[in-house]
Amino acid sequence: MNNIKKTLLVTGGAGFIGSHVVRLFVNKYPDYLIVNLDALTYAGNLENLKDVEAKENYIFEKADITDEPRMQELFDQYKFDGVIHLAAESHVDRSILDPLQFVRTNVLGTVNLLNVARKFWNGNFEGKRFYHVSTDEVYGSLGEEGFFTEETAYDPRSPYSASKASSDHFVMAYFHTYHLPVVMSNCSNNYGSHHFPEKLIPLMINNIRNNKPLPVYGKGENVRDWLYVEDHARAIDVIFHNGREGEKYNVGGFNEWKNIDLVHLLCRIMDTKLGREEGESAKLISYVTDRPGHDLRYAIDATKLNKELGWSPSLQFEEGLEKTVDWYLRNEEWINHITSGNYKHYYETQYDQR
Ligand code: NAD
Ligand code: TYD
Repeated sequence: MNNIKKTLLVTGGAGFIGSHVVRLFVNKYPDYLIVNLDALTYAGNLENLKDVEAKENYIFEKADITDEPRMQELFDQYKFDGVIHLAAESHVDRSILDPLQFVRTNVLGTVNLLNVARKFWNGNFEGKRFYHVSTDEVYGSLGEEGFFTEETAYDPRSPYSASKASSDHFVMAYFHTYHLPVVMSNCSNNYGSHHFPEKLIPLMINNIRNNKPLPVYGKGENVRDWLYVEDHARAIDVIFHNGREGEKYNVGGFNEWKNIDLVHLLCRIMDTKLGREEGESAKLISYVTDRPGHDLRYAIDATKLNKELGWSPSLQFEEGLEKTVDWYLRNEEWINHITSGNYKHYYETQYDQR
């Protein structure tokens, strides 16, 4: 390919949000070479990218962001102009069981990438950019009122959010100390297609479909602010290209839902789609022991992103949720491969024999 203008490294591109970012960039920017780097942990699934894997401007590299020699080798090979860093351990419940894995990937992995990018660019930062994708969970937990702004002090309360907060601090430290051209965003909860069914929305959809109990933590009163994943990918595109260096941008949908209300809404949508009687799926709701240290409420103020860069969410929640349910019902094979573990073999069959 000789029409390539930029070469971008996307880490974690086989995951939920990363696969949407890769798809958007590969299709929208045929003159960018997109290198998707992913360790293919349990959360990485190359079946998420079947529709772009044959494109000329897409390459997959199986690698671990904590592996310094390999990261250096890949920077030398591809001479990246930019990095969009999404690779992470992302599930709060898993972080409670194994905090060190979150420190390894989210903190050490991020610092390793920052080091390698800094060494490779070696002070020649013209046209270069390191974009770190983070979460609103670094801000801690809100009471009944108020929003997280970019000025809200960090107050992480789970091992996951503590590891993400730490990585955010390192990113800003590399900006101030070494002038690394960074930009960062903190987004609220995402939902949409290709979401691993350990997280609330895909787990509930899958359990409703299979008539299994719907485990609602505590009283279901915790509030999350939901954003359609393709809107997040669009925000990443806008911030990567137009965000100001050294700045952070909050991304969110102004769309708060109590967990229990959200589960009821999903049950109603699924009753209609599956031809069940109204109220049938809701009978599966089962209140279970609460998550330890369960943050009560997240709510993002995304005014800065809207005012400065003109981004706003494209979908109303009910519409997005319906699209999401439709996708899961149309793609039973995708979810069956995850529950059976078959998705793990996709890499060997598609890539190992080439
Ligand atoms: P995910 O768990 O679906 O995907 C993470 C990806 O990273 C997987 O493909 C996994 O294989 C890969 N990975 C993990 N460890 C790796 C390592 N050591 N080296 C290379 N690759 C590795 O996560 P997601 O929900 O897509 O989240 C992506 C990013 O966005 C994360 O940084 C997360 O903190 C952030 N974020 C997520 C949400 C959300 O609602 N899911 C909201 C805001 C921010
Ligand atoms: P989750 O999707 O794990 O995202 P996060 O914890 O990062 O916000 O959970 C969203 C909300 O749903 C959170 O308040 C925990 C709750 N929850 C349940 O009630 N039951 C479940 O089975 C899961 C996975 C989450």
